[in-house]
Amino acid sequence: MSQQHSAAPAPNSAVSAVEGRPDWWRDAVIYQVYPRSFADGNGDGMGDLEGVRTRLPYLRDLGVDAVWLSPFYASPQADAGYDVADYRAVDPMFGTLLDADALIRDAHALGLRIIVDLVPNHSSDQYEWFKRALAEGPGSPSRDRYHFRPGKGKNGELPPNDWESIFGGPAWTRVTEPDGTPGEWYLHLFAPEQPDFNWEHPAVGDEFRSILRFWLDMGVDGFRIDVAHGMVKAEGLPDLGDHEQLTLLGNDVMPFFDQDGVHDIYREWRLVLDEYSGDRIFVAEAWTPTVERTANYVRPDELHQAFNFQYLATHWDAAELRTVVNRTLDAMRPVGAPATWVLSNHDVTRHATRFANPAGLGTQIRLAGDREVGLRRARAATLLMLALPGSAYVYQGEELGLPDVVDLPDEVRQDPAYFRGAGQDGFRDGCRVPIPWTRTGPSYGFGDGGSWLPQPADWGGLSVEAQTGEPGSTLELYRAALAVRRERADLGAGDAVEWLRAPEGVLAFRRGEFVCVANTTGESVPMPAYGRVLLASGEITEAAGEAKVPADTTVWWSAS
Ligand code: GLC
Repeated sequence: MSQQHSAAPAPNSAVSAVEGRPDWWRDAVIYQVYPRSFADGNGDGMGDLEGVRTRLPYLRDLGVDAVWLSPFYASPQADAGYDVADYRAVDPMFGTLLDADALIRDAHALGLRIIVDLVPNHSSDQYEWFKRALAEGPGSPSRDRYHFRPGKGKNGELPPNDWESIFGGPAWTRVTEPDGTPGEWYLHLFAPEQPDFNWEHPAVGDEFRSILRFWLDMGVDGFRIDVAHGMVKAEGLPDLGDHEQLTLLGNDVMPFFDQDGVHDIYREWRLVLDEYSGDRIFVAEAWTPTVERTANYVRPDELHQAFNFQYLATHWDAAELRTVVNRTLDAMRPVGAPATWVLSNHDVTRHATRFANPAGLGTQIRLAGDREVGLRRARAATLLMLALPGSAYVYQGEELGLPDVVDLPDEVRQDPAYFRGAGQDGFRDGCRVPIPWTRTGPSYGFGDGGSWLPQPADWGGLSVEAQTGEPGSTLELYRAALAVRRERADLGAGDAVEWLRAPEGVLAFRRGEFVCVANTTGESVPMPAYGRVLLASGEITEAAGEAKVPADTTVWWSAS
C-alpha cells in the first residue's frame, strides 16, 4: 500500500450524487479533460487536479453534463499516464487523493458528473505485479498474470509471435532473468513500459473489480475503459501471418483486438456497477472494424456507451456522413443503446485541422492545411454532431476551435509513438498542447509556470478570455449550442432521424419540430427556410422563404 492509500478519504456515501434525470447519459454531452493540459494549479508547468477543480464553473457554464478525465494515477508517464503503476493513487504531479475527492465533490455540487479513465489492458512496468514477475523468474506464478513466453529461434532470440506494437516495433520485449541471462519475452501491445495483463488469470479480474469499487466508493459517476477491445487475446496467441498489421487494424477482428471473450468481462463489471446507486456508466474505447461490432459492447447487460470511431474517421462529406449516421443508428437500435458521437480526443488530430486535410488521410495525420477552412468545417461538424440522437463527447479546446500544433520541435515531444517510429505517426502531442485561458500572461493563463508543451504565439487570440462574449466566436457557438440542447428535448433524444430532400453535398434531417441542415460543399446552397433559425455555424441570409446556407455551414431550425 502506498502512503496515498492511507490518506484516502473514507469510502464515501458522503459524496452527494448529482440530482438529475434517470438515463442522463443517453443524450449527455461529456467533456474530456486531459489533465496535463487543462489547467495548472501549482505553477509547475503541468496541469493538475486542482487546476481542473478551479475551472469546473467554466465547464458548468459551457453547459456540459459530465467530465471525463484522462488518467491521473501514479505513473512513470511512459505513455502520459496510460501506464499505471498504482491504480488507487493519484500521481504527485497531478495532486493527491484528497484533491480527487475535492474535485468530485465540487463537480457534484455544480451538477457535473465525473467519469474517470480505467486502464485494464496493461499496467506500467513499474506496477508491483510486473516487478515481482520479473524478479521471480520463469515458471513463477507471478509471471502468469502477464503474457510471458519463451522466444523462438535456436536460443529464444526471436519474439514468440509476429504481432507488432501499436506504437511501432515488435509487441514483445525480451527480459534479462534474475540470473543475468537473456530470458523470456513479454507481450506489450503498446510501449514496452506497458505490459499486457493476462485476463485468463483470475487474479486480474479480481483486482479490477476491486479497483472499480475503490473509485465507485470515491463517488465517481463512471469509467471510460481504455483499449476496451484488447483485454482478451486469441487462444495460443496465433501469428497474424503474411499480413500488414497496420492495414488490418481497425478493419478486421485481430487475435489481440475485439475478441468475443471481452464481453464476459463487461458482464461481470456491469453487475458491480449496478450495485451502486446514481445511474453510473461505462464508456468503451473500442476500436472495432464496424459499428455493428461496436454495438456488441453496449448490449443491455454490458457497457452503456462506446465511442463511435467510424464517425470520427469520416470525412467532411455529406454522403459518407449520412451513411455512417444511418449505419450507427441501425446498429444501436436493436441493443437499445444510444449512439455516442465524437470528433476529437487526445489520440487523433483535432478536427479543426483534420477537416482541412485532403480526403483520404487518416485521423492521425497532421498537416498545416488551410486553417480557415478547417475551422469552418469543424464548427459545422460540431453542430451536426450535436443535432444527432445520442450522446456526444467534446475534447478540451475544441470549443475554442484550437487547431493541432503541427510544428512542435522534436526535443519537446513526449508521445512514445513518436520515438518508436513506424507505428502511428507519433504526433499525438499536437492535440495535447495546454489550452489558452487568457489573452496574455504566462502560458496564456494555463498556469504561472509555463507549459509542458510550447503553445503557439497566436493562441492568446483563441483563449477563453478573448472569445467570451465575442459574437460568432467558436466558444460562444458551443455555449449557445449546448444551451439549445438543454432547452429542447428533441435534440439528443430518440434513435432515428428523418432525412429531408437536399442537393448533393448537403445533409438535411428533421427530428420533430427541429431541422438540421449541413452544407458540406465549398459553395453556398439555397435551401427552404424551415422556420426560425435557432443557431448557425456561419452567416445565413434569408429572403422570401429561402435561406442561403454558406459553404461548410450547419444551421439549426425550429419549425415552431
Ligand atoms: C488508448 C489511449 C491512448 C493510449 C493507449 C494505450 O488508446 O487513448 O492514449 O496511448 O490507449 O493505453
